[in-house]
Amino acid sequence: MDDSHVRGIDVRSFAPADAEVVAALIGNTIRYSNSRDYPRAMLDSLIAYFTPDKLLQLAAERQCLVAEVDGRVVATAALDGTRLATFFVNPDHQGRGIGTVLLRALEEAALKAGLPAVYVDASITGVPFYEARGYERTGSSTTGTAGPQVELVKAIERPVIDEQPRMLISEEKRRELDRRIADAKVNPKDGIPWQAVEAAALGRFAQ
Ligand SMILES: CC(C)(COP(=O)(O)OP(=O)(O)OC[C@H]1O[C@@H](n2cnc3c(N)ncnc32)[C@H](O)[C@@H]1OP(=O)(O)O)[C@@H](O)C(=O)NCCC(=O)NCCS
Repeated sequence: MDDSHVRGIDVRSFAPADAEVVAALIGNTIRYSNSRDYPRAMLDSLIAYFTPDKLLQLAAERQCLVAEVDGRVVATAALDGTRLATFFVNPDHQGRGIGTVLLRALEEAALKAGLPAVYVDASITGVPFYEARGYERTGSSTTGTAGPQVELVKAIERPVIDEQPRMLISEEKRRELDRRIADAKVNPKDGIPWQAVEAAALGRFAQ
């Protein structure tokens, strides 16, 4: 999914100007949402860790996204190599599908990067969200700055076209494309990479 508009949710890349507001939303989310699963002292050190400067540093190392509603940043999530990271939705905006939109955007990025799977060291609070979105526990757990975390993984697969029909070109254009390919009189048995020929034809067609 590219930067997109889904039910009034705008997803875009984190920008340096977001650092202050994102640090505040992370602090707010940890304070209110994670407090049911972690002791206060642990949460305080985690909140202290996510300073605006730290977020600027992390954003340079990761693919960091933010979600806006009515022009206000209300959520953030990142992909750090093959791992989801810093996934937080402001408590006022949880349960409205914003986390799902961010997750899909990062899974799409992973797919484009050719990653076969995405991992997450989930907070105890976040585990049900990931499980509801197809992630499975690996059986490993870690304890770091964020306290005990549960590792989950999801295989990232190319969408099956029959499951998600998306008409890229009209039937008429498709026939025209087939005719062009046929006119090219290319025989795949001659060792010509057939998919490359078709891709080139599609490229010409898009112009
Ligand atoms: C986890 C989090 C990122 C999810 O974002 P969100 O915008 O609330 O999620 P969505 O609204 O897209 O989806 C919620 C889905 O997850 C499930 N879910 C989320 N939290 C859940 C919980 N505590 N218990 C059960 N299910 C939960 C819901 O069933 C819902 O699925 P449904 O739409 O099929 O009913 C967000 O709640 C959050 O920031 N939590 C606190 C911070 C945190 O722990 N982040 C994870 C760090 S790894």
